[in-house]
Amino acid sequence: MISEKANIEIEQVSESRLAEADLDNPGFGRIFADHMFEMEYRDGSWHSPTIKPYGTIEVEPALKVFHYGQSVFEGTKAYYVGDDTVNLFRPEKNIERMTQSCRRICIPPVPPDLFLQAIEQLIKLDHRWVPQKEGNALYIRPFASAFEPVIAASSADVFRFYIITSPVGSYYSKPVKLLADQHHVRAARGGTGATKTAGNYAASLYPVQQAKDKGFDQVLWLDAIEHKYVEEVGTMNIFFLIDDLLVTPKLSGTILPGVTRDSVIQLARHWDVEVEERAVSIDEVMEAGKQGKLREAFGTGTAAVVAPVNTISYNGETVTIHEEERGALGQRLYDEIYGIQTGKKEDPFGWIYPVTVHS
Ligand SMILES: Cc1ncc(COP(=O)(O)O)c(C=O)c1O
Repeated sequence: MISEKANIEIEQVSESRLAEADLDNPGFGRIFADHMFEMEYRDGSWHSPTIKPYGTIEVEPALKVFHYGQSVFEGTKAYYVGDDTVNLFRPEKNIERMTQSCRRICIPPVPPDLFLQAIEQLIKLDHRWVPQKEGNALYIRPFASAFEPVIAASSADVFRFYIITSPVGSYYSKPVKLLADQHHVRAARGGTGATKTAGNYAASLYPVQQAKDKGFDQVLWLDAIEHKYVEEVGTMNIFFLIDDLLVTPKLSGTILPGVTRDSVIQLARHWDVEVEERAVSIDEVMEAGKQGKLREAFGTGTAAVVAPVNTISYNGETVTIHEEERGALGQRLYDEIYGIQTGKKEDPFGWIYPVTVHS
């Protein structure tokens, strides 16, 4: 079967695996829907866009992606609205960011129209995999990687682009404990910190493991030059409510320009909350915490939407914020964004891309 718009060839599964999946308790990123999208770049262009059954791929061990990490990815979600509609949230932002990520590490970007159609087709086919339970969603993971089997540290000239999808539950069930790392660095100016390249995540694994061993959930990254300014957290951007001011590190090329971050800033400003995007020193945060002025801290990202932070430790000192629950602003932002995503609240910013599906 060939789809008219983008000539995506579709090979459907003969039997769905849906009956084996527990969509109410899927965990995160562990089970995958029936189909995946696949396309190859060769001889100077992307070709043969195909949707096929999700499954193993056979590759050569010499692929450049294994050795030099030439790989980028994205993450967005599809939300159940009703039996005939699934919502995507600002998918064009993810597509635009993936284009930037691709450019930074010499992967030819996927044409944006085709990218969006691929997601849409996949969602139409696998819409029954979108969980209906409150807080759960179908995570969409596009990625592009170097598929040329040559041992040479240079850009590949063969790539593959995939989209896989995974029913997921909520990412952080409890408030998050952060350790501001004084030694390790996630990204430096001029590096790849503003892109979703695989290597950024590989570099963070060891420091995060060390923080976990000490009882923390995540590292709060500081800047690479002075180890003084707050950057971001694992897979989230970070916000602090100091008195009545919402502050977040500005986009300076070392942190990821989060889609949720941008949505939080727009919403807060819409509600007349004063928002500052600027350099935020860890000393300012700790001082505000000690003086009782740090009313809230939360991370923002596709996985958790808004995740409350209740502990920040730095240089042997710890400040505690909201021991058990979310702060009022974080909760309001979560309710609003999740409400918009699931079609329960109005969408004044035009963030929703609805996909009509047929049962
Ligand atoms: C390093 C990093 N920062 C921030 C974010 C949050 O970005 P978004 O809101 O687009 O999910 C993510 C997740 O994609 C991330 O991996």
